[in-house]
Amino acid sequence: MSTNAAKNLFIYGSLLCFVVLVILTIDTMGKLDKRAPEITEEVNAGKKVWHKYDCIGCHTIFGNGSYFAPDMTKATERKPKEYLKKFLLDPRVIKADSAMPKLGLNEQEADDLIAFLDWTSKVDTNDWPPKPILASAIAGKAASAGQALFQKHDCSACHQIQGIGGAAGPDLTQVGARRPDIDWHIRHLKDPSSVVRDSAMPAFTDMNDEELKALAEFLITLK
Ligand code: HEC
Ligand code: HEC
Repeated sequence: MSTNAAKNLFIYGSLLCFVVLVILTIDTMGKLDKRAPEITEEVNAGKKVWHKYDCIGCHTIFGNGSYFAPDMTKATERKPKEYLKKFLLDPRVIKADSAMPKLGLNEQEADDLIAFLDWTSKVDTNDWPPKPILASAIAGKAASAGQALFQKHDCSACHQIQGIGGAAGPDLTQVGARRPDIDWHIRHLKDPSSVVRDSAMPAFTDMNDEELKALAEFLITLK
């Protein structure tokens, strides 16, 4: 290649890359507004509560913050709002050994925070944060109908089995030894507070009797 050809390649190549960059930037800017839902008064108030209690001192959100506690970007996606509210008001009511302190939020602050977290959950973040790698690695390899239901209903959002899953509810690795009664599990799944006083676990009312039985059978094998 002659010096001139190399020079042209460099100049026109750079120019082309610059033009592509400008086009992509304009395209992205045009889409940004559509990626987030509307910011209401409540969402705004919730963001102030988030700062007031320095949630970011322990949690991450949109990739910022501390790695001490779970990421909050998609908090309302996997967990019911009533559950999150209970947790915010007093984490130890839900998990006796919770590492999150009772911060002293009032009802209004909790509602505002949930509105804020619901807003962040609905922002299109290109699937950020990634789903836990281990949890998705075992998904799809269910050995029984009950285990498949466990995955389908995302029980591992709150429960761990052998170290995989969320830590909001009790660890289920040995639950079959603790609670060997199938009927107890069926009643618990349908209406947790009918067997556990003030249970913060959401009710799973959309499963039929056959599914409830299969799931309960899976649970009692865990020991
Ligand atoms: C001192 C650190 C700390 C602060 C401050 C803190 N958290 Fe937490 N939070 C935790 C830890 C640790 C957990 C994990 C639950 C556990 O195992 O105790 C948690 C769990 C949670 C959960 C439940 C997550 C789940 O997976 O069920 C929510 C919701 C939450 N925090 C929201 C907040 C909000 C909102 C604030 C600010 C008002 C906040 N946290 C402030 C440490 C903290
Ligand atoms: C939003 C969080 C959450 C989700 C989702 C959830 N649980 Fe729970 N679970 C809890 C909490 C909190 C408790 C403790 C209170 C109680 O026992 O009812 C609990 C308790 C349990 C217990 C009793 C454990 C023990 O040691 O007594 C079992 C079994 C259980 N859950 C199974 C399931 C199954 C199966 C699913 C999915 C269909 C599920 N959970 C989904 C939060 C959750």
